[in-house]
Amino acid sequence: MNILDIIGKKRDGKSLTKEEIEFFVKEYTNGNIADYQASALVMAIYINGMTVEETTNLSLAMAHSGDILDLSMLGNVVDKHSTGGIGDKVTLILMPIVASLGVKVAKMSGRGLGFTGGTKDKLEAIPGYKTEISIEEFIQNVQKIGISLIGQTLNLAPADKKLYALRDAINCTANIPLISSSIMSKKIASGANKLVLDVTCGSGAFMKNIEDAEKLSKTMIEIGKLAGKETVCIITNMDQPLGKMVGNTLEVIEAVDALKGNMSEDVKNVVLELGAYILKLDGKGENIEENKKQIEEAIKTGKAYNKFLELIQNQGGDISYIEDTTKFEKAKYKINVISDKEGFIDKLNAEQVGKIASYLGAGRIRKEDDIDYSVGIELIKKVGDKVIKGENLAIIYANDEEKGEEARKSLLETYKISEEKVEKIADILEILE
Ligand code: URA
Repeated sequence: MNILDIIGKKRDGKSLTKEEIEFFVKEYTNGNIADYQASALVMAIYINGMTVEETTNLSLAMAHSGDILDLSMLGNVVDKHSTGGIGDKVTLILMPIVASLGVKVAKMSGRGLGFTGGTKDKLEAIPGYKTEISIEEFIQNVQKIGISLIGQTLNLAPADKKLYALRDAINCTANIPLISSSIMSKKIASGANKLVLDVTCGSGAFMKNIEDAEKLSKTMIEIGKLAGKETVCIITNMDQPLGKMVGNTLEVIEAVDALKGNMSEDVKNVVLELGAYILKLDGKGENIEENKKQIEEAIKTGKAYNKFLELIQNQGGDISYIEDTTKFEKAKYKINVISDKEGFIDKLNAEQVGKIASYLGAGRIRKEDDIDYSVGIELIKKVGDKVIKGENLAIIYANDEEKGEEARKSLLETYKISEEKVEKIADILEILE
């Protein structure tokens, strides 16, 4: 078997065998296939697609490219993963909530890349919080307090690490077989036995329309079945950013507020839906509406917030920042984005907002870039809101005045305002089991 024949086959639109896929994954992970050859194959997959059988074989081969974590000593472990978005602080809010209700949370999260944010970066915005701990400590934390959130530092699905960076570098990220295998390989390797997947859809997501989001969901559910992991996909709206804040420290502050009961409507709808399904899969309640009530109760009684404090403290974070979020380092400049029109917010392209936040320093343009935790955007007006001329649409948090001014202009252009009344968009688009 050789890589040239495999590239040629996929280039010509043929299906690859299990053996060919395993050969590629093994030899690429070991460094025996060059990046330019892997790039050619990835591009051929992007253009010609893969059958569900090929995608499943790719997921399993990638999952077995490194260690497979055994979490069976923890009993049932339900994991959550999002296909990515802007202002997506759901993990920070949701996982302490379900942990406070007795679900074992052992979760690894990635860094942001390009215009999308990553939970690992948000956790690292909390002074002292350690995202890189040993596997023993990770498991001990879950046994001790029921929750641990870390980065993807272990040798899990190393083929995905290499392929994800490669896809990003050659503009081949938004593709159903490649996203499915990337996510499912990590989930299979990270030991959970049940999965709730947040499949984002819209301008700030890799899936721009509902048909593609459904296709991606069905593919991942199928792979989950074959891997023995019950999988639920919840398609959520990412046509505008989620919640009010975009940027690392800003999103941590929004998450703390949310855990204290002060949650914006869209964040709340996503947290309740995903949380209710996590509780269901964990055997904590069959009725979705009842499960949502359990979640609201955990927030109201302070149980969820206390679990968050416990998590931060247990992983070396300084909880005085959580108890008093004004302690977080602030960006030097706060620039108002003033509306020059009257009407209703019609569109707020999430990808564009993510790119502006990245430009300010909240995300990485290249993967080796440092992050500026304090910068970002506060969205005061969102789709459906009424605005009058001279009113504030948003606030830019910048450490560079010129960049802040550029960001203000770009964000003002991103807000599309209509004279007609605009309906608010649904937050939950579809649930597939
Ligand atoms: N999230 C992942 O982990 N992989 C992808 O390919 C896209 C989103």
